[in-house]
Amino acid sequence: MAEDEGAESYLFKIVIIGDSGVGKSNLLSRYSRNEFNPNSRATIGVEFQTQSLTIDGREVKAQIWDTAGQERFRAVTSAYYRGAVGALLVYDVTRSATFDSVDRWLQELNTHSDSTVARMLIGNKCDLGEIRAVSTEDGKNLAESEGLFFMETSALDSTNVKTAFEMVIKEIY
Ligand code: GTP
Ligand code: MG
Repeated sequence: MAEDEGAESYLFKIVIIGDSGVGKSNLLSRYSRNEFNPNSRATIGVEFQTQSLTIDGREVKAQIWDTAGQERFRAVTSAYYRGAVGALLVYDVTRSATFDSVDRWLQELNTHSDSTVARMLIGNKCDLGEIRAVSTEDGKNLAESEGLFFMETSALDSTNVKTAFEMVIKEIY
């Protein structure tokens, strides 16, 4: 059967934000290509991947955008957020400073998108339990107080990566 036969398909834009080095690019490559790069470089500008999935028998396409955490490598902020209907805000559970930045990322998200955007807070690198610096409870509490979904993930061992992306996509759909 031809791909475009039958019901129309949906395209949703989702953005990934958070400090440099928290694992945004690896979360995306794990989800879209099942790949992990232990030596990945800082992202420069913007990259995106389109991922198809079927929800309730309908094809849904998620266009997932990834940008640099470092200010000097970032693309035009307003363009990055334009049209987004979902956002993953990532911190690194082994670095408190990345968790402290969550407020700042939320402010930016609020400035550039409307309140209907589905938001998820993600504590990544949960495979590094022995050097953890942010407790699961602190993550949960912050998410609850800001009205965000919450999940801890590992792009390295795949924990919750698919679940996190698909929870946001299903929420939008
Ligand atoms: P910028 O592009 O600079 O904003 O960084 P980023 O958020 O895209 O981080 P990136 O995905 O490049 O990952 C940074 C480093 O953390 C790399 O060395 C990754 O291999 C490592 N990393 C990413 N995710 C995980 C994870 O879940 N567990 C572990 N142990 N390392 C990870
Ligand atoms: Mg990156």
